[in-house]
Amino acid sequence: MKCLFIGDIIGRTGRNAIKRFLPEIKEKYEPDFIVANAENSAGGFGITKKVYNDLMNSGIDVLTSGNHIFDKKDIFEFIEDVDNLLIPANYPPGVPGKRYGIYNVNGKNIGVINLMGRVFMGIPLDCPFRKFDEIYEDIKDKTDYIVVDFHAEATSEKNAFGYYVDGRADVIYGTHSHVATADEKLLPKGSIYLSDIGLTGAYHSIIGMDIETPIKKFLTGIGSKYEVSKDGLLFQGFFVDLTTKEFFRIKLYEEKWNSC
Ligand code: FE2
Repeated sequence: MKCLFIGDIIGRTGRNAIKRFLPEIKEKYEPDFIVANAENSAGGFGITKKVYNDLMNSGIDVLTSGNHIFDKKDIFEFIEDVDNLLIPANYPPGVPGKRYGIYNVNGKNIGVINLMGRVFMGIPLDCPFRKFDEIYEDIKDKTDYIVVDFHAEATSEKNAFGYYVDGRADVIYGTHSHVATADEKLLPKGSIYLSDIGLTGAYHSIIGMDIETPIKKFLTGIGSKYEVSKDGLLFQGFFVDLTTKEFFRIKLYEEKWNSC
């Protein structure tokens, strides 16, 4: 069972990176199931119905999210109507959206759980560790495989979560920081782990955004609206064969590409 997990898709540049690289990745690695984090896929913040449809048409099966999922008001119009766009399961009760899903792929049931860390996130979330325990008890007998997108800032929290769920989830990978880590490994009880896949968006950017505004903010404390960088294309993914336990990171880029 070959799976491709795609790091945070940042704005139109990220969607262009999907269009540019996903077809050749599909041809080369033949994934059976593709999951992408799409919380920044519309203008760098949130997702719209149109962008959701675009990503579905590109061949992605399931979208996960995080702290920016509700940034575009459009989300409230459709999030309850789709079964393959997930919000972090540890959002407080009452927040709209599907918190995990079970998807049948080639006769096997894959459970996808989206959770969010609490360190440096600034959102009143329930405990992601205990929320995993709760969901795991619900789905362990209904699934052949379980994968988790752990959307978090601190690598320490990601590490801790990985070892906490080792042997229960098949794959735990991180999103949110937009910077890839090189710590992919097999944990002692058999789970495959990566702290962060990194972004899919502009090659030259500050975590996907145009470089001028963040530098000005660091120098002066004065901020203005962040714009998605259009400078080059970068695709970052994590390929996992759930059957053979083979895994590796994928990084493809075109430094000179410009959407203008
Ligand atoms: Fe995020």
